[in-house]
Amino acid sequence: KQYEFILTSRPADGVALITLNRPKALNALCTPLFNELNEAVKAFDNDDSVRALVLTGSERAFAAGADIKEMKDKEFSEVFKGKFLESWSLLTTIRKPIIAAVSGYALGGGCELALMCDIILASPTATFGQPEINIGVIPGGGGSQRLAHAIGKSRTMEIVLTGRNFSAQEAADWGMVSRVVPAEEGSVVDAAVKMAAVIASKSQIAVQAGKEVVNAAYEQSLQEGLRYERRVFHSLFATKDQKEGMSAFAEKRKPTWTHS
Ligand code: HXC
Repeated sequence: KQYEFILTSRPADGVALITLNRPKALNALCTPLFNELNEAVKAFDNDDSVRALVLTGSERAFAAGADIKEMKDKEFSEVFKGKFLESWSLLTTIRKPIIAAVSGYALGGGCELALMCDIILASPTATFGQPEINIGVIPGGGGSQRLAHAIGKSRTMEIVLTGRNFSAQEAADWGMVSRVVPAEEGSVVDAAVKMAAVIASKSQIAVQAGKEVVNAAYEQSLQEGLRYERRVFHSLFATKDQKEGMSAFAEKRKPTWTHS
């Protein structure tokens, strides 16, 4: 399907790539862009031939935030009644893993969008930040909460209250991104597609279960999370892929997943 503000492609078996494509505004996340992103992500989630997603922007900007020009004249009653930004969380309801491949600016809503993904890979050029304080507001797309989970309270307070940006290296040192992909290794998008292809080669049921239980670690208490993990683990013994995976190991051969 043709979209106006995003591009979609299938760069590897089982992998879908979504590229934010609003170059003139550094991929500022206007409402029509987000609607298209939600539509594409939902379509890939429902497409059986897709088992992992990669989300990226341009070299210069993953996304420079929510669209400030679109927001600037909004009134409280409008944003409250319209549940402004609530639709952004659709991304977190997707069953399949989403890898963010971040180059350039990932600021405000752009940083929040990356944090909604399951894995973040950064190019050495990636610049993260929650600069909302500089325009008289605070993060509204989950930044204060997800950043606190990812990098801790003190750093989150510093980032949210001073509005200063932080580098790819800082993000890696703080555990917010999996790693910085060195330039000599090629593009961060290629690295993300490669990682997505590895995930796509596994049992889809196990991958979905794995994503769900890791997310539980951020949503419930340790006690509940541990019980949930064990129960989901138990439930995988009802799948053909568990039988196949363990038999293949015992028979010293490669498993053939049926995703059932
Ligand atoms: C609307 C934006 C934009 C944004 C950039 N542009 N960011 N438009 N909303 N968030 C537009 C600029 O207006 C400009 O348009 C064009 O993109 C190029 O940007 P420049 O500023 O000319 O580029 P540069 O000098 O290289 O500076 C890059 C930048 C700067 C440092 C990223 O653009 C910037 O500070 N942007 C805003 C970052 C920010 O505050 N983000 C948080 C937004 S608030 P023209 O037409 O002039 O060429 C937010 C709220 C989140 O995200 C809460 C809910 C999610």
